[in-house]
Amino acid sequence: MQSHRELVVEPIGLDAETLERPLKWAELFGNDHPVELEIGMGKGTFLLEQARNRPEVNFFGIEWARWFWRYASDRLRRAQCGNARTIRAEATFFLTEFVPEHSLDVLHIYFPDPWPKARHHKRRLIQPKFMPLVQRVLKIGGRLQVVTDHQGYFEENIEPSIRGSALTVVDYNTPATAGNGEYVGTNFERKYQREGRAFYALAATNSAK
Ligand SMILES: C[S@@+](CC[C@H](N)C(=O)[O-])C[C@H]1O[C@@H](n2cnc3c(N)ncnc32)[C@H](O)[C@@H]1O
Repeated sequence: MQSHRELVVEPIGLDAETLERPLKWAELFGNDHPVELEIGMGKGTFLLEQARNRPEVNFFGIEWARWFWRYASDRLRRAQCGNARTIRAEATFFLTEFVPEHSLDVLHIYFPDPWPKARHHKRRLIQPKFMPLVQRVLKIGGRLQVVTDHQGYFEENIEPSIRGSALTVVDYNTPATAGNGEYVGTNFERKYQREGRAFYALAATNSAK
């Protein structure tokens, strides 16, 4: 993918090599505000709109694809979102190695890659083995929010994994930054909405003791 403009990652985009494990959110953001983390932020539309509208919350985005990570970090930098940071990393690895136990208020996962071919289903992020990690990083009372357009992924993995976990399913919260009729307002949602696709949303809280 190409951009005609130079994408500047710093100071929003961080280098995992320079972070301590586990990291300390309060030191990273310079305050002890609640932290919400998005896995697979793509071009960063959700993170940008949330960070701009909710300065009392810290937002952290994980994105594996280098170009999307650079693009989103540059957008957040240009919008002067001092309450946002990003990392280019694989999410399971990053949550395991870097994110402190019970430290996130919300974990957002919007339009995760569906890996539609049967032989690739094992690559799907949300499956039963992922759920203990979600439980570990969410605060008690913290929330997981998921939206997908992929019925198979939702019915085969997302819903059974979440319902079968120690989390408690609750009503999905539509963010205030979502547009009319949107679940969340990401680039993929907007693209798929134009194609008339159906969406599937689920939320759960970490009520485990
Ligand atoms: C289908 S796109 C959705 C992007 C954005 N959330 C949206 O709704 O517009 C999925 C994104 O998640 C990223 N991704 C997929 N698996 C990931 C993982 N394990 N760790 C980090 N990022 C991941 C991909 O690179 C891609 O940018």
